[in-house]
Amino acid sequence: MSAKKLFIQTLGCAMNVRDSEHIIAELTQKENYSLTEDIQEADLILINTCSVREKPVHKLFSEVGAFKKLKKNGAKIGVCGCTASHLGAEIFKKAPYVDFVLGARNVSKITQAIKIPKFLGTDLNYDESDFAFKDFRNSIYKAYINISIGCDKHCTYCIVPHTRGDEISIPFAIIFNEAKKAVSKGAKEIFLLGQNVNNYGKKFKNEHKKMDFSDLLEELSQIEGLERIRFTSPHPLHMDDKFLHTFSQNPKICKCIHMPLQSGSNEILKTMKRGYTKEWYLDRALKLRSLCKNLSISTDIIVAFPGESQRDFEESLEMIEKVRFEQIFSFKYSKRPLTKAALMDNQIPEEIASKRLEILQNRHYEILDEIVKKQENQIFEVLFEELRADGEIAGRTDNNFLVQIKGSEEFLGQMKQVKITNARRMVLYGEVV
Ligand code: 5AD
Ligand code: SF4
Repeated sequence: MSAKKLFIQTLGCAMNVRDSEHIIAELTQKENYSLTEDIQEADLILINTCSVREKPVHKLFSEVGAFKKLKKNGAKIGVCGCTASHLGAEIFKKAPYVDFVLGARNVSKITQAIKIPKFLGTDLNYDESDFAFKDFRNSIYKAYINISIGCDKHCTYCIVPHTRGDEISIPFAIIFNEAKKAVSKGAKEIFLLGQNVNNYGKKFKNEHKKMDFSDLLEELSQIEGLERIRFTSPHPLHMDDKFLHTFSQNPKICKCIHMPLQSGSNEILKTMKRGYTKEWYLDRALKLRSLCKNLSISTDIIVAFPGESQRDFEESLEMIEKVRFEQIFSFKYSKRPLTKAALMDNQIPEEIASKRLEILQNRHYEILDEIVKKQENQIFEVLFEELRADGEIAGRTDNNFLVQIKGSEEFLGQMKQVKITNARRMVLYGEVV
C-alpha cells in the first residue's frame, strides 16, 4: 500500500520542534505516512502551534484558513501544540473544518487523534513522561532530547503552565538510551530540552533513583562518541554551586548558557514571580564568566511588563552593560489569557513598549558588534551541520557562534579547527586551519 502523505508546520520553540519529531516518528512508523513539503498532495496537514505571545496565535488561524483552501479533497487538518492546549474546543468553533485538536503533553495520542472524528486531546494532567516514542530526527548530527515536560513556576506573564501542565521529569533510562542510540547513529551533539532543565529530578511518575541535573549531565557525558552537550532552558534560580561546578568543569558541556533574565529590576522580578534578584542573577552570570574561558551567555528580556517604570527599564539596560550578553531574545510584553499579569491594571502603552524594545535592541547590537569584532583571527573548533547556498557550509562553535566557510557535504558532522577571517554580527566567516 502506498504511503499517505503528511505535511507538518512547526511554530515556536525547540520543545515544539521535538514534539513534531515525535509526531512524525509515530505517524511514519505506525501509520504508514511519509513526509511531504507539498501541502497540496498531503493527506494529513498538521500545525504545531505556540502561544507564548499573542502573535503566533493569530498566525494559527490565518495558517489553517490557508490550509483549507489548498488542501486536496478528503485531506485532514489537525491542530497540535500549545495553542491547542489552551484554546481546545474553541478551535473547532472558530475553524469548523479542523478535524482534531491535540494539545502539548498529549503528543503520544496522535495515532488515535487521526482516527477519531473531532478528537480533542488537551488533558493537562496527562503524563506521557515514560512513553517510548518511535525514533525520528531532522538532523543526524544534533539530537534533541526531552528531559522534562511542563513547568509549575507560574511566572505571572507566562501561559506555559496552562499549555504544558505541571513539571515532570523523564526517567533517566529513557534519556540515556535515547542519547546512546542517537550517538550510535552519528550524533555528535545532544541538546537537552525542558522548561526548567536544571530543576531535573524533582518529580518522576514512578519510583526513581535520586538524581539532579548536574548528575544527569555527568552521566550523559560518559557516552563514548558524544562530543557536545547543550541544553535549554535553565532557570537562574536553580543555578546552585554544584551546577556551576559541573557546567564549568565538564569538557563535553558546551560553554554557552541561556539565562533568562526577563527584567533587571528587583521590583519587576518580584511581580513577575521569578524567585531571584538581579544581584543573584549577576553573581551567577559573573561567576560563570570567571569559571569558563570564552563563555557565551544568552538571555530573554521582556520590556514593558505591567507597571515597568522608566527607571525599571533602565535597570534592564544596566544589566546588559554588566553581563554583556552574546545574544538577547527581547520581547514586548504580550498579554496572555489565564495569567496574573493580564489582570494587572498598570499595562504599558504600545508606543512606550516599542520605544523601549528599540532602545534595548540597539544597545545590544552595539555591544554585540564589539564582541564579534574580537573573534577575528581566533581559532575555534566548529561542528559543521548545515549546507548553505554558494558552496558554503555552516556550523557552531562550542560557545554557539555561527561559523560559515567554503565547503561541501564532506564537512557535515565533522569537527574542524577554523580561523575567523571576517566577523559579522550574525555569522563569523572563516577558513579551516
Ligand atoms: N510576553 C512577552 N514575552 C513572553 N515570554 C513569555 N511569556 C511572555 C509574554 N506574556 C518570553 C519570555 C520567555 C520566552 C520564551 O518568551 O522571555 O523566556
Ligand atoms: Fe514553546 Fe512556550 Fe511556545 Fe509552547 S508556548 S511552543 S512551550 S515557547
